[in-house]
Amino acid sequence: MNPKITDWQGRRVWLLGASSGIGAALVRRLAQAGARLALSGRDAGKLAALGIDGAVLLPCDATDAASLADARRGVLQALGGVDLTIYLAGDYVPMQVANFDLARAESLFSVNFLGAVRLTAAMLPDMLTTGGIAFVASVAAYRGLPKALAYGPGKAALIHFAECLHLELVPRGVGVWLINPGFVATPLTAGNDFAMPALLSPEQAAQATFEGFASGDFEIHYPKRFTRFMKLLALLPYRWYFPLIRRLTGV
Ligand SMILES: NC(=O)c1ccc[n+]([C@@H]2O[C@H](COP(=O)([O-])OP(=O)(O)OC[C@H]3O[C@@H](n4cnc5c(N)ncnc54)[C@H](OP(=O)(O)O)[C@@H]3O)[C@@H](O)[C@H]2O)c1
Repeated sequence: MNPKITDWQGRRVWLLGASSGIGAALVRRLAQAGARLALSGRDAGKLAALGIDGAVLLPCDATDAASLADARRGVLQALGGVDLTIYLAGDYVPMQVANFDLARAESLFSVNFLGAVRLTAAMLPDMLTTGGIAFVASVAAYRGLPKALAYGPGKAALIHFAECLHLELVPRGVGVWLINPGFVATPLTAGNDFAMPALLSPEQAAQATFEGFASGDFEIHYPKRFTRFMKLLALLPYRWYFPLIRRLTGV
């Protein structure tokens, strides 16, 4: 499947969406394991506030291809190459028919899906024979869910994109990972007005991600008690899936 990553000492990792939540916790875990890090997000102050010794800070906006290309140049200059790129940049807003907002939906698609495509386009020449790329999507994208009109489709597209890339790049020795977290307590989910089942801390999510890279699996998903349930739901035929989801979520 994928190369198993068990030794992070000196490994050059570029994280986009590194400044808070799952990304920030993963940065700390990888720094502890000895990785050489390049960190991106839009806000330079938040990246600096992480206080990671020796990390290269490259603020950039994933919705802007030129900004991503500049950051790529900066990473290559500073680290001499990249062994693993991890795309965590993301945004979330609950959206349903009653509050449908096209501009907001397009802005979510731009960071949650197209940003990952822009990053891949920038990185492909560097990783046609070596290295790897990982994308953080979500278990919320396995199937359609209520209030997910803007978030779900972009993440579902990202899952599909990662599958296509994996098929083609893994035979060349290039890893492609799909990371699907359940609920994690971060700024992204802080506004949720419902009890989030099987909620993890960012540190737990980072540890599960870290361990996932050692498995060689394509998909790293957690926590298993929640993601296995979501996978089971995803197998149901529509005539069972829709009524069950309505009953479970009260839609
Ligand atoms: N929390 C959950 O329950 C959960 C569950 C499943 C999947 N996820 C996914 O996990 C990833 C990380 O989310 P999180 O929960 O850790 O949220 P978070 O704390 O809000 O982190 C989002 C990160 O993305 C960066 N970012 C946002 N827009 C960007 C842009 N246009 N260009 C570059 N960077 C950008 C943010 O930094 P700046 O604001 O400084 O740019 C921040 O570092 C997201 O893709 C999210 O969809 C989260």
